Amino acid sequence: MAGAAAKTLPRHVAITMDGNGRWAAARGLGRAAGHKAGLGPVRMCIQECSQRNIEALTLFAFSSENWARPAAEVGSLMGLFFDSLEAEISELQARNVAMRFIGARRRLPVRLQAQLAAAEERTAGNTGLKLQVAVSYGGRWDIVQAAAQLARECASGALRAEEITEERFAQATTLGHCDAELVIRTGGEQRLSNFLLWHCAYAELYFTPRLWPDFGVADLEEALDFFAARERRFGLLSGQVAS
Ligand code: IPE
Ligand code: IPE
Ligand code: MG
Repeated sequence: MAGAAAKTLPRHVAITMDGNGRWAAARGLGRAAGHKAGLGPVRMCIQECSQRNIEALTLFAFSSENWARPAAEVGSLMGLFFDSLEAEISELQARNVAMRFIGARRRLPVRLQAQLAAAEERTAGNTGLKLQVAVSYGGRWDIVQAAAQLARECASGALRAEEITEERFAQATTLGHCDAELVIRTGGEQRLSNFLLWHCAYAELYFTPRLWPDFGVADLEEALDFFAARERRFGLLSGQVAS
């Protein structure tokens, strides 16, 4: 445990939870069963990140592109989001977790929108893990909505174009200044699939073939070890980083 405590942990872990459908297919089950089985690792990651005092955990639950899946799958996912949040909210509150949902929320079913807002409000004062769930989210959507927000401020005279810096732009994104330090993707694909584009600018990327429902504590540990072994140079030379 002493070694585990000493290793450098990321402040912000972001996870693309992929492979639910393949996990289900391998068992002769429907895709919805795979999504349901994915709740176990979600609980585990929240618990482990909380215990390790990791500041923020962002989970990619549903992308802008996932809207184009068959209506039955989209419907079952919306139902699963609603039911699982209802079932878990008290536990999250007890764990001092502060929840936020990022994405184009107006596209979600109205009762889910209300539930997400209620969960944010209920946990807003919590000081533990920042749990950020990306639903109906796309990195490009996020960048475009930030640009539109700044354009409106310029049009109203509240902001001048010369005042738009990286700092100011970051503030207008859904996560604000919350760069991902470690991005984990399960399911074997080595791509971003439009996840946190702005916030991944200097993230360490960890890919594993493990399907999301099978992702266990040892897998998370391996990803954290991978992060701890990286030298994050931010463009400098190794000697500069060391000093
Ligand atoms: C990820 O699992 C969950 C969502 C995209 C909602 P998939 O449903 O993409 O599972 P695979 O990639 O088909 O196995
Ligand atoms: C990315 O997985 C989105 C989520 C995990 C929510 P996808 O399965 O949708 O991504 P692609 O289709 O492999 O790029
Ligand atoms: Mg997939």
